[in-house]
Amino acid sequence: MLGVVGAGTMGNGIAQVFAMHGHDVALLDINEDAVARGRAAIEKSLGRFVKKEKMTADEAAAIVARVKTTTSAKDLADADLVVEAIVENLAVKQKVFGELDREVKPDGILASNTSSIWITEIAAATKRPDRVIGMHFMNPVPLMKLIEVIRGHDTSDATTAAVFDLSKNLGKIPVEVNDSPGFVSNRVLMPMINEAIFCLHENVGTAEAIDTVMKLGMAHPMGPLALADFVGLDVCLAILEVLHRDLGDDKYRPCPLLRKMVMAGHLGRKSGRGFYSYD
Ligand code: CAA
Ligand code: NAD
Repeated sequence: MLGVVGAGTMGNGIAQVFAMHGHDVALLDINEDAVARGRAAIEKSLGRFVKKEKMTADEAAAIVARVKTTTSAKDLADADLVVEAIVENLAVKQKVFGELDREVKPDGILASNTSSIWITEIAAATKRPDRVIGMHFMNPVPLMKLIEVIRGHDTSDATTAAVFDLSKNLGKIPVEVNDSPGFVSNRVLMPMINEAIFCLHENVGTAEAIDTVMKLGMAHPMGPLALADFVGLDVCLAILEVLHRDLGDDKYRPCPLLRKMVMAGHLGRKSGRGFYSYD
């Protein structure tokens, strides 16, 4: 049995992929509304696969049935592996990892889907740093092949091998990188997104122009501003603040426009408005 903590943008996709590959899953969030939203997102995603005749409605229903939603960490006690996908905040992650360390069976692996935070620092909140690892899925989880696997200072070879095996079982491609703020994915991606926001902030181009340049010019499937809306502007800001603080270089300072949009509650797709408006 596998566990997922956080049923938001990433967590529900991770739970869905686990269930699509035959695993029973416990999907946890802070309240019933949050887990209900997570389940609805899974059903919507599977509906796309049914519509494309990639699976039958019965197969989709069987997948949904494998996902048990809960608000209690006690339901994760028997999990062989739990992926944490909650807010990109060290203190909250450390609090949750401390709770998971107490509730999940001693040989269970505790993985974080964090975009940028030191795995070593998250592991320090537990008594099992050898079984703590970064298992960094990409958005949208049902489609993106990469899992960036990050070893903390004390992550064991056995834990790493188990995560590689599970990643391949999920039809994903695991790539191991070392523990460093933002790892490879966001150390490279977020400065690009931040520069696109600075281009908008300094009126170098409109949002549409900026995104079109990168889609047509660099064959990106989404422009950087649309991608920021897709990731979540709050997540982008949190990542840039980690890079700025932990790498100590002003080149990672978040664009003031990004900060202002997050302050205003314009978080992108998940709030209905970011650089673009969404129904
Ligand atoms: N579940 C199931 N199917 C989905 C889906 C989902 N969540 N999202 C999209 N699809 C399907 C659609 O149904 C569609 O299917 P068909 O082509 O068979 O009709 C297909 O995927 C394409 O989707 P769309 O038509 O909606 O749009 P698109 O062609 O632009 O593809 C996309 C969407 C796959 C997201 C593509 O735009 C893309 O790859 N964007 C870049 C994503 C990216 O860069 N991800 C990494 C973000 S950074 C990160 O994740 C790390 C971090 O820590 C922040
Ligand atoms: P989100 O805001 O969409 O969802 C976070 C979820 O966590 C919410 O449902 C919230 O209720 C829940 N949560 C918060 N505190 C909790 C707690 N103490 N216990 C249980 N649930 C709690 O965030 P997201 O975009 O899914 O990101 C989650 C994590 O994944 C972050 O660390 C983020 O950096 C990382 N990540 C995000 C993306 C992306 O594109 N959004 C991609 C890869 C990794």
